[in-house]
Amino acid sequence: MAQETKGTMGRFIAFEGIDGSGKTTQAARLAARLNRMGLACCQTREPTAGPIGSLVHQIMTGRIAADNRVVAALYAADRLDHLLNQTDGILPLLEQGTHVLTDRYYFSSYAYHSVDMPMDWVIEANAQAAQLLRPTATIFIDVDPNTALERISKNRFHTEIYENLARLTKTRELYFQAFEKEKDRENILILDGSMTEDQLEEQVWEAVKGYF
Ligand code: TYD
Repeated sequence: MAQETKGTMGRFIAFEGIDGSGKTTQAARLAARLNRMGLACCQTREPTAGPIGSLVHQIMTGRIAADNRVVAALYAADRLDHLLNQTDGILPLLEQGTHVLTDRYYFSSYAYHSVDMPMDWVIEANAQAAQLLRPTATIFIDVDPNTALERISKNRFHTEIYENLARLTKTRELYFQAFEKEKDRENILILDGSMTEDQLEEQVWEAVKGYF
């Protein structure tokens, strides 16, 4: 069961995928398309640039050490702040009719943190966010982990702790486990990320245009 898609509330689309999947580009392309159509739209991401997200970034880059359970809980806290804060929170934006596209949401947590702990624990840790807001649609851009790793090595000076082939492969598997677990209460759209960016942009639009 996804967010109510009719009425004055903005739509909320979550882009998901392993690192190097191209989800950030596709979120930006959809945002540009909606803007061209004259629709109020805001692109955002997790981890956020807010105070809790900054802490998460410092852990990700190895500047601060923390237990995996603490990391998972911080991502969940960052997500609640992302939804609720009064400066640029997702819920206030949706309530004023702005559409919001996010680069990652709770399925990232389900996939990335279930490497270290039971997925049910991770889902439970994010229950508040899920209760507050389920996406109108979650778009998963599916790419082969080898392709993803190639793209990452080409485009970045440094890779983060999660970015190696075994990790990417495992994360992709866990995404699919999470989709299977949550399929009755989520609207999950899986797209093939191996096509060109232009082709994929069209596929994304075909998948979501009915919501706008
Ligand atoms: P990413 O989209 O890769 O950011 P960037 O392109 O700037 O490096 O996201 C950062 C990392 O955070 C990514 O490897 C996945 C991880 N992550 C989690 O482990 N849990 C979460 O809940 C989220 C949202 C992200």
